Amino acid sequence: MSARIPVLDGRHVLLGVSGSIAAFKAVALASKLTQAGALVDVALTRGAAELIRPLSFQAITHRPVYSDPFELPEDSEIGHVTVGRRAELVLVAPATAHTIARLALGLADDFLTTSVLASTAPLLIAPAMDAGMYDHPTVQEHLARLRARGAVIVEPASGHLASGLEGRGRLAEPEVLLEAACAVLGRTGDLAGWSLLVTAGGTQEPLDPVRFVGNRSSGKMGFAIAQRARDRGAQVTLISGPSALPDLYGVRMIRVTTAREMYQAVAAELPASDALLMAAAVADFRPEHAAEQKIKKSGAELVIRLVPNPDILRETRGIDGRRGRPIRVGFAAESQDLIANSRAKLEAKDLDLVVANDITQPGSGFEADTNRATLLSCDGLEELPLLPKTVLADVILDRVLALARARQR
Ligand code: PMT
Repeated sequence: MSARIPVLDGRHVLLGVSGSIAAFKAVALASKLTQAGALVDVALTRGAAELIRPLSFQAITHRPVYSDPFELPEDSEIGHVTVGRRAELVLVAPATAHTIARLALGLADDFLTTSVLASTAPLLIAPAMDAGMYDHPTVQEHLARLRARGAVIVEPASGHLASGLEGRGRLAEPEVLLEAACAVLGRTGDLAGWSLLVTAGGTQEPLDPVRFVGNRSSGKMGFAIAQRARDRGAQVTLISGPSALPDLYGVRMIRVTTAREMYQAVAAELPASDALLMAAAVADFRPEHAAEQKIKKSGAELVIRLVPNPDILRETRGIDGRRGRPIRVGFAAESQDLIANSRAKLEAKDLDLVVANDITQPGSGFEADTNRATLLSCDGLEELPLLPKTVLADVILDRVLALARARQR
């Protein structure tokens, strides 16, 4: 399956690498960006070139690697101007305290800093340095200056550092930096100005402190929608039931456990949203009582009484969003009578669109990376082939946008 990411596909990214011991992680980042379809030019500072050979990057990006300000690229144009000007995103990772200072002061003493000055692209900076250095007022002043000029800083993580010390300064992981690149490049996408509320994952309804009633939803479908909406410029709030998936960069995350918590969160967030996309598999019932202590087996039968949970889509029918009635998208996970059951949900839950997944189909529905869906609206029915959930997410978002535009007419 292709790992290409639409917002990165065919885009010119200048990856600046400075002399931190974390420079090795930039190789993994270059690889991820390249696999996503980006055209990655790498600029190494002198410090970085001491730590890692240009060939490591070249073998991955299949493009020239720049490290000397006086070295002209093959086409003999002035290198820093060409590379800086064609970049659609400049990503400096790792950024040392020294390179951050040079960028903040506008110095142009090597290929990277000169290219940054020649570039009009958004600047993404991922600092990496030893414990204590990151919190130093000088570093923070330089970062504040860069932020004020529009740069986006991906905060370093806390943990064990190369020096043996513990503290804040670990370069963000390549997966996070890839997400940040998508978020920054996507800012001007077709969903810019939209505020979307997405739900994901299954809810868990406690039976006792260790057991719950739940379902197999992994959260993949809802997370894919949130991710793609962010990459297309939307402000996204993702309300997720328990899921092993990590928080998404650039998405406001609200983690909940039960259906009632999800209901409270949706009701609170909806007034600030333009659309609600309910991909979560919400438990329809919960145990009437959750035992305070672990239930012990006694040899006798255990009867658990289940009571209904609020139906979130139904209960929020009357809540207006930022621009009046929000676009409302429900999902239907069905094992029989897919179309009839989904059409009933379209009407009963007052929805604009239902994404119906036939969970009996291989590679479809719960846990899989793919899904086969039929889209139902009052305009009719559209059967889609088996698609990666990320691609299906884009199709759903296209329909949401079309519905919103039709309403504005
Ligand atoms: O998370 P994954 O592993 O990627 O799996 C994705 C998925 C199969 C969970 C997803 O594609 C999906 O179909 N989600 C909805 C599953 C579901 O709960 O369907 P339903 O037919 O029970 O509910 C219909 C709609 O009402 C859903 O939008 C649901 O979020 C909503 N609902 C349900 C119950 C409830 N109490 N309140 C609700 O709002």
